[in-house]
Amino acid sequence: MQFRKAVMADTEAIYELIQLNAELGLMLPRPRISIYENLQSMTVIDDQGTIVGVGGLHILWSDLAEIRSLAIAPDKKGLGLGKELVSLLVKEAHQLGIPRVLSLTYQVEFFKKSGFTIVAKESLPQKVWKDCLNCNKFPTCDETAMLLVV
Ligand SMILES: CC(C)(COP(=O)(O)OP(=O)(O)OC[C@H]1O[C@@H](n2cnc3c(N)ncnc32)[C@H](O)[C@@H]1OP(=O)(O)O)[C@@H](O)C(=O)NCCC(=O)NCCS
Repeated sequence: MQFRKAVMADTEAIYELIQLNAELGLMLPRPRISIYENLQSMTVIDDQGTIVGVGGLHILWSDLAEIRSLAIAPDKKGLGLGKELVSLLVKEAHQLGIPRVLSLTYQVEFFKKSGFTIVAKESLPQKVWKDCLNCNKFPTCDETAMLLVV
């Protein structure tokens, strides 16, 4: 398994991985344009040419980044890949000098295992102002905000 930055040739595999998990109701779907726009922030897990995982680190503010589009292929779940990818994205935030990493998620237990704790969405105004206000789910979002201080 190789953890590496995403390149344009990975976009269709990333799209399908996210779509697959979105159809299961586990995450929000992403149109291709959103993957192109955010490609530079994405890391993939490459299993001998097959993309089996993806995750992005999106900068929200000078001291806050968000883990987005985290998805592991159904037949590779439970092997520790998600946790390793989160750890890599947290390290990336640290290297960028960003002290707080956020996730808005349904996977509370998974993120707890990586050291994240539940916080009130209201404590993250940069996220609410920038993204939540434009989201269909606002103001009745059922995702949990979780934060890790790096
Ligand atoms: C959530 C997801 C990324 C986890 O990846 P994974 O590779 O299967 O998880 P890991 O094997 O790295 O698990 C790490 C730890 O979390 C635990 N864990 C993983 N998923 C869990 C779940 N749904 N509920 C409870 N615990 C969970 C594991 O048991 C493991 O615990 P351990 O460290 O004590 O052994 C993956 O299941 C996935 O792609 N889900 C669909 C998309 C999604 O929900 N993305 C998150 C959007 S924010």
